[in-house]
Amino acid sequence: IKKIGVFTSGGDSPGMNAAIRSVVRTCAYLKIECVGIYRGYQGMIEGDFKPMDARSVNNIINKGGTILKSARCEEFRTKEGRKEAHDQLVAEGIDALVVIGGNGSFAGALLFNEEYNFPVMGIPGTIDNDILGSSFTIGFDTAINTVVGVIDKIRDTASSHNRLFFVEVMGRDVGHIALNAGVGAGAEEILIPEQNLGLERLLDSLKRSKKSGKSSSIVIVAEGDRIGKNVFELKEYVEEHLPIYDVRVSVLGHMQRGGNPTCFDRVLASRMGVKAVESLLEGKSNYMVGIRDNKLILTPISEAIKAHTEVDEELIRVSDIMTT
Ligand code: F6P
Repeated sequence: IKKIGVFTSGGDSPGMNAAIRSVVRTCAYLKIECVGIYRGYQGMIEGDFKPMDARSVNNIINKGGTILKSARCEEFRTKEGRKEAHDQLVAEGIDALVVIGGNGSFAGALLFNEEYNFPVMGIPGTIDNDILGSSFTIGFDTAINTVVGVIDKIRDTASSHNRLFFVEVMGRDVGHIALNAGVGAGAEEILIPEQNLGLERLLDSLKRSKKSGKSSSIVIVAEGDRIGKNVFELKEYVEEHLPIYDVRVSVLGHMQRGGNPTCFDRVLASRMGVKAVESLLEGKSNYMVGIRDNKLILTPISEAIKAHTEVDEELIRVSDIMTT
């Protein structure tokens, strides 16, 4: 392998820049060429490439977002799109790829590898932490810290006004952000897709909490939860069935994807970037770099995209006990 192409794809996450930096610098260290591919698969199809050397990634380790930009690309789902991308890579002399992204990005890489036997290596970058084969994805730690910081602020105003807040957080189909940030921020209830508590239990818990002397409450709602009502409908439902509360809603949205990455995400991204390049040079392909028990591991991409990681049962129990 002489020239590695690196790109970010799908939803961005804080720490992606640190991962790009790591891939670029590892290539420089090992004296192979590195090319940045802009806007994910879309830029690959359009040949939007830029050679990168160790200095082109100065001062980005601390920055959120991705300097290579990101996109979700429909065209790459077609055979024609992938052929165009392959032609562009061959013309540029790129002979291996590092894709930094989530499930959808990895599924694309797998297909591409099957069709063209093109060496690919994945690095998990998503705030959702939903990728099998890694206990942590790049950006998750920053996102939960962002959420905890915001909920701390909401708590100030909630407690001043004796209010109940429903706070909706991201996470797609999984509840990692909700559960971890909820425990970290001391939420009253945490509604996650993995566990449908039902509306009755929510009302009971809120009643109990009021009776026990709590004047304000915060309920975290994962965007993918299965209670059957969105945060605004939950507000109406509680106002109707439990008029003892003055209820407000806060949807945190894309602020959860921004901001400077935490030290944890920077270190994780730096380690994963080195491992990705070294593994390609060892002749490995079609793997995703992950971390488990603080050790870097490789999981076949085909396995990594099969299912989501499960939420920690022990953490659910802790959360239940903490709401006493
Ligand atoms: O996968 C990351 C994520 O932020 C999810 O948590 C969320 O459901 C989704 O992306 C939002 O996507 P978009 O930025 O396209 O609105």
